[in-house]
Amino acid sequence: MNSITVKAPSSTANLGPGFDVFGLALDAFYDTVTLTKQKSGISIVTTDNIPVIPSKNTAGIVVQHMKKKFKIKSGVQIKIKKGVPPGFGMGSSAASAAATAIAFDRLFGLKLDDNTLVECAGMGERASAGSIHYDNVSASVLGGFVIVRTKPLDVLKIVPPSDLRLVVAVPKIIVPQKKTKVSRSVIPKQIDLSDSVINLSNAAAIVTGFIKKDSELIGSSIKDIIVEPSRAHLIPGFSSVKKNALKAGALGVTISGAGPSVISFATTKSNLTKIANAMKKGFRTKKTDCIVVICKFSNGAKTI
Ligand code: HSE
Repeated sequence: MNSITVKAPSSTANLGPGFDVFGLALDAFYDTVTLTKQKSGISIVTTDNIPVIPSKNTAGIVVQHMKKKFKIKSGVQIKIKKGVPPGFGMGSSAASAAATAIAFDRLFGLKLDDNTLVECAGMGERASAGSIHYDNVSASVLGGFVIVRTKPLDVLKIVPPSDLRLVVAVPKIIVPQKKTKVSRSVIPKQIDLSDSVINLSNAAAIVTGFIKKDSELIGSSIKDIIVEPSRAHLIPGFSSVKKNALKAGALGVTISGAGPSVISFATTKSNLTKIANAMKKGFRTKKTDCIVVICKFSNGAKTI
């Protein structure tokens, strides 16, 4: 094989109380990466506005890391087509990193296990997010709902219920460079034990909801009293978006990953268009437009 193309989905991290631990792959947006063997070196081809120097590009860093780790001599051309909006809490860099790690694995017949693929993809994600957290990459690589444990890295996957629906609102605002770093800087360094107990109980209920395929339990447990309140001020209109979506029937609403996108949890029984419009109206209270996508979970990266 000389060339391979892999498509990897967007994802939402945290799901409220599962900060840096939970991820869910979403079939809202996809990045596509084609790796082609070449004589030597690493070159990047893209029409998107992303760095083309391998050491500064998410996919380039993954290829550099994997070439070294698995002692691959061949050169690699990386062709990238971005579909996941970068910087909006939709796992954009993770999608490129996941697609690249899987493409590299297949192109060179490495047959890596899930944890190693996630570890390799995580190298690229770190470069853009500034710190390493595997929630988005794990979801993008494995699909479905994931629970990330570190030291040692061990990712657990649960297939979500088929009636779970998500409404994602991506506000049209200018996000700061190094957005994840900025949105991590506002999180409290220390928290009350009683707050952690509340978040832990909701996180446990979310996992139970995924295991029991109970979308209502998942949605009604999307409650975070630690990270969400500290980040809300970074998103214009967040409280209106949340209040409106809940009023329109969303079961739970929170920030998608490090934001600024907002995600509502619902089921096939919900009035999804009503929730979408309610979220739009919420952003409009701060004169902010948004793109709204109604979606379900994705099964993760795959070759095309
Ligand atoms: N868990 C991360 C955060 C999301 O909320 O900062 C990016 O992986």
